[in-house]
Parts: sequence; C-alpha cells; structure tokens
Amino acid sequence: MSIGSESDLIAIKKVSEAVANTLRLMRDYAKPGMSTLELDEYGGKLLAEYGAKSAPNVTYGFPGHTCISVNREVAHGIPSESKILQNGDLVNIDVSAEIDGFFSDNGGSFILGEDINNLSKVVEASREILFKAIHQIKGGVRVSDIGKLIETEAKKRGLTVIKNLAGHGIGRSLHEEPHDILCYADNSNKTRFRKNSIVAIETFISTKATYAYENEDGWTMETKDGSYVAQHEHTIMVTDGVPVILTEANQIWN
Ligand code: CO
Ligand code: CO
Repeated sequence: MSIGSESDLIAIKKVSEAVANTLRLMRDYAKPGMSTLELDEYGGKLLAEYGAKSAPNVTYGFPGHTCISVNREVAHGIPSESKILQNGDLVNIDVSAEIDGFFSDNGGSFILGEDINNLSKVVEASREILFKAIHQIKGGVRVSDIGKLIETEAKKRGLTVIKNLAGHGIGRSLHEEPHDILCYADNSNKTRFRKNSIVAIETFISTKATYAYENEDGWTMETKDGSYVAQHEHTIMVTDGVPVILTEANQIWN
C-alpha cells in the first residue's frame, strides 16, 4: 500500500508495533524443552492482547498464529506439540498480523542457547545484510538492485541465497505489489521502490542451498541438501532518504 494520510500511518505503526513486540517477547520466551506449539500459543496470546489477528491464519488458513521453523526448516513451519526446542537449534519465528484492516510482517532467526552447530555466521550475515539492504532503499531504487546487493553480500561471506522466497509489498493485505523482492538480481524486474509505499524486506541466507521445497505437510519449506537458512524481515516505509523501519521494536539489530 501507499501511505496517503496521517491515519494510514498511525494504523500501520500500530500493527507493526504489535508484531514487533510479539516477535521480541516470543524470542525471549523460547527455551530448550519447550514445544513450538507452546511458543506459538504464547505468541497468539500476545497478538490477542493487541487486538491483532494472525495474518497467515486469516489470509491462507495457516494452522497456527505464527510460523516457527527449526533447523532445516526454512519458513512456514507449523507449530507442533511434538517439535521440542533443543539447545543450539536454529529457530526462525515469523510474526505477521492484521489490526483494523492493516497488515505488518516481521521475522528473525536466532540460535537457541549455545551455538553448538556453529551457525552464528549465517545468522549474523542475514541480519547484517538486511540492515544494509534496507539502508539502500529509497524512492526510485530498482527492486532488482536490492536483490543484487543481498546476493553479493552473501557471496562475499561464502554463503548463498534462497531464490524462491522473497520480500513483498504489504499494508492492506499480507502480500501485495510489488511481489518478488528477491534475494538476487532479477534483471527482468524493472519495478522501482516508490516513496510512501509499505514493503516487507526479507533476507534468506544459506550455508549452501539456493532453493527451498515445500514438504509433505503442505506448508513447511525445507532445504533438500540439509543446509541451514537464516531469515530476517522488517516492514518499512519507503521515503526519499533512509526508510522508516516500522517493526524495529523487535530489536533484531541487537
Ligand atoms: Co514474514
Ligand atoms: Co513477509
């Protein structure tokens, strides 16, 4: 969507604060021995306190309040009583929600407890590259140039990008134009970021993989080669200068 009034801005800020605080508090709440269902139920309770509805649930019928993806799962992991978090797990929580018809989306990967699988490199890369990418976005910048930046930065660190998952426009629905804000340069994409528009920027940085595949549950995206993927995502408002990071309350920079 494009912000056309002060009331639009207030509404998008409100839902962004709800998802950002929910993500931050869920990450703090996650502990080894806890099921991802228990973590999701905590997230669902927080969203309800904000008067927010789970966006993947209301939009696509996703069976959960939030997406929780662990280790080889890349995205859209279904919260489950049988998935028990372990020390050293790579955990991704993605929280998107709706309040009064406005949507916001944010996510982040982190290592639970000690980094026994040596994954901090890919997590740090994802977070730092998202920060770098966001700071290059302003009105008139080509979407494909941001993809190029993400892929170049990943390569510099000996890492890869997932090519079939992407950031997207957001605001009056979960996924809007521009679709396919990819993590590599798609030169056929002539779209440019527009001032005052709301977009969700996402990194998908991997130790080796370049594609994620849907598994048999019909939701969860996984790598096939057993490699790991870290994702970070913020919803931002594009301006003439540095964007406004609407979901910055989740403190994924720290
Ligand atoms: Co998301
Ligand atoms: Co998103």
